[in-house]
Amino acid sequence: MKKNIGSALALYPTPVTVIGAMNGENPTWTLVAHIGIIGHDRVLVSLAAPHHINHLIKEGNKLSINIVDEKILPKADSEVFDFELGEEGTPIIKEAPLAIECKVEDIYNTQNFESFICSISGTYVEEEHLNEEGKVNYNTLKPVLFEFPTYEYLKTGEVIGKCLSFKE
Ligand SMILES: Cc1cc2nc3c(=O)[nH]c(=O)nc-3n(C[C@H](O)[C@H](O)[C@H](O)COP(=O)(O)O)c2cc1C
Repeated sequence: MKKNIGSALALYPTPVTVIGAMNGENPTWTLVAHIGIIGHDRVLVSLAAPHHINHLIKEGNKLSINIVDEKILPKADSEVFDFELGEEGTPIIKEAPLAIECKVEDIYNTQNFESFICSISGTYVEEEHLNEEGKVNYNTLKPVLFEFPTYEYLKTGEVIGKCLSFKE
């Protein structure tokens, strides 16, 4: 028998990202792991309402999502990065293996949180992490994962099978 531990946040692990928005000429960064995918053309970024970055995102109506890998994890907490601007003007972390430029389409409000529902304007990937078909190779990219209950980072990268290949 499984034990019911009540209403717990247990949908982990999730990828660790650094969300970026411009504040005039300078970027602002926030480490965020409560992110998700909606349908096939929207992503979600969930931010505590008091964060400084929220009003910058609303001002520009855009943000960047920078994937954290093991290489940049030690830097991720510092929130200081070399950056370049993407085509839509969001800050892209130079050392991040993959970054997504997003346009804010909607904001879903819950108590003390604003979840930004975004469309995807562009996806910037280090070429070494693209396979022959031009698809992102997460086997080499290895995003770092996060889980809230014990506040730890987890590793990714190992392939355990092709999807839909486990049928008898
Ligand atoms: C691993 C990790 C994951 C985090 N995930 C989120 C998140 O999903 N949403 C959020 O609002 N804050 C998250 N935070 C907290 C923010 O990164 C942190 O509070 C913020 O950078 C402080 O910004 P402020 O000074 O504007 O409040 C996370 C922090 C860590 C260390």
